[in-house]
Amino acid sequence: MSERPYVIDEMISAKTIAARIEELCVSIRDEFHDTDQLVVVGLLRGSFVFIADLVRELDLPVEVDFLEASSYGNSMESSREVRILKDLRGRVEGRDVLIVEDIVDTGHTLKHVTGLLGSRNPGRLRTIALLDKPSRRETDVTADWIGFSIPDEFVVGYGIDFAQRNRNLPYIGKVRFAD
Ligand code: PRP
Repeated sequence: MSERPYVIDEMISAKTIAARIEELCVSIRDEFHDTDQLVVVGLLRGSFVFIADLVRELDLPVEVDFLEASSYGNSMESSREVRILKDLRGRVEGRDVLIVEDIVDTGHTLKHVTGLLGSRNPGRLRTIALLDKPSRRETDVTADWIGFSIPDEFVVGYGIDFAQRNRNLPYIGKVRFAD
């Protein structure tokens, strides 16, 4: 837990997020309207709020599975090593897959996970990220669907943590240190 005092300013409201998810789901439904074997894969822990809202708005026959990868630990700096802490429960061979990220920063996590699941011979493999920080990118990945492209701000809420806190904020906030 951080010892430095900070405040959180709202950056993207819950209402704005919900409206964007509705828009994204129109496009995702269009892509996957012909499948009855879509596996929606949430990357823990940050995507747990986004995936919950996404699959309820999607209104398609889906299975939900989770994979936990870690690139940050408790540090604000991204390490380049991506570790798989928890793998999928189910198989994705021959099945359409939508990987759900809360935020793409350097892109190492999404690149690693896309490579891993791609090696398991899925059907269509697509990716969605609620937030994208293109200025931080160190890899060549771009999610197929992006909720909001944002500058390099320290964001929390809607699943995203600061030292494991603030994941339960219903909006995306920007951390501002008091000193
Ligand atoms: C964060 C975030 C993304 C990833 C993005 O996860 O949720 O999954 O980092 O960073 P990258 O593009 O630089 O790889 P984190 O490892 O902090 O775990 P968490 O989801 O449990 O918070």
